[in-house]
Amino acid sequence: VKHILRAQDFDRDKISEIFNLAQKYKNTKVYDKIFKLHKEILCSLFYEPSTRTRLSFESAHLKLGGNIIGTDNAGEFSSAVKGETLEDSIKVISSYADVIVLRHSDNDAAERAAKVSNCAIINAGSGTAQHPTQSLTDLFTIHNRLERLNDIHIAIAGDLKHGRTARSLAYLLGKYDNIKISFVAPNNLQIDNDIIEYLTKHNVTHEKLESFDSVLTQVDVIYQTRLQRERHGKENHEFNLNLDAAKVSQMKENSIIMHPLPRNTEISVEVDSMPNAAYFEQASNSLPVRMALLWSIFN
Ligand code: NCD
Repeated sequence: VKHILRAQDFDRDKISEIFNLAQKYKNTKVYDKIFKLHKEILCSLFYEPSTRTRLSFESAHLKLGGNIIGTDNAGEFSSAVKGETLEDSIKVISSYADVIVLRHSDNDAAERAAKVSNCAIINAGSGTAQHPTQSLTDLFTIHNRLERLNDIHIAIAGDLKHGRTARSLAYLLGKYDNIKISFVAPNNLQIDNDIIEYLTKHNVTHEKLESFDSVLTQVDVIYQTRLQRERHGKENHEFNLNLDAAKVSQMKENSIIMHPLPRNTEISVEVDSMPNAAYFEQASNSLPVRMALLWSIFN
């Protein structure tokens, strides 16, 4: 069974294979002429809210010829309400489905699910730990826009302590050459040390900054993220890292602005029409990338 649990489990060859296939899916609307599933069943099991991830996975699977079952509010509408453990739910559901797309608030949920599952598990967001399929979409977007994956200076900004997409993206970037990552966040929301250690081990240049000031004119990519308020508990964190048109116009000509979405106020709406804005394209890229990932699980 092929699970998708962590970004760092993908190597460069696997990533190019996925991206080549995703590019084919992106360029055509006649999907079934390329590859077709045979009514395999995907179960969406979402214990946390989702718009893009669930709908793009379901659309991807339907376009490939698969079928969908699931619940988008599993915390409330599944037997979790009756006290069933995640493990017991997965044991049962994996006998009904061929792949389970799981989003859960526990950092180790995907690994725990994979241990007991009879079918493939796709991690669609595990607590504050990882969101591997989002980071593949992110990397695919960087590749499409910049036409390279080596020699990139990227600022990853926002609530890096609680945001899982930033962590997964850092793991993927660690696979490439001549990468520099500037982590931009207030000290109390900075990226955790396990990521810093991983990057050091993989020869990725990195720094922690509290504002964009020193890197705005230098970076190829800004990867912005929102404040993860729902994960803050009683703490009241704030930041002001907002990007507006004036800031973005200081950036290099071919540089891009990314965001996993949803956004709050950290990118002004006026930036949307600037050529640097790549976040809506990034969201639409999740469809071909997830089609390619689903295909790779069944073939
Ligand atoms: C992200 C997530 O769920 O981690 N959303 C997404 O899948 N694009 C980002 C977020 O919620 O901030």
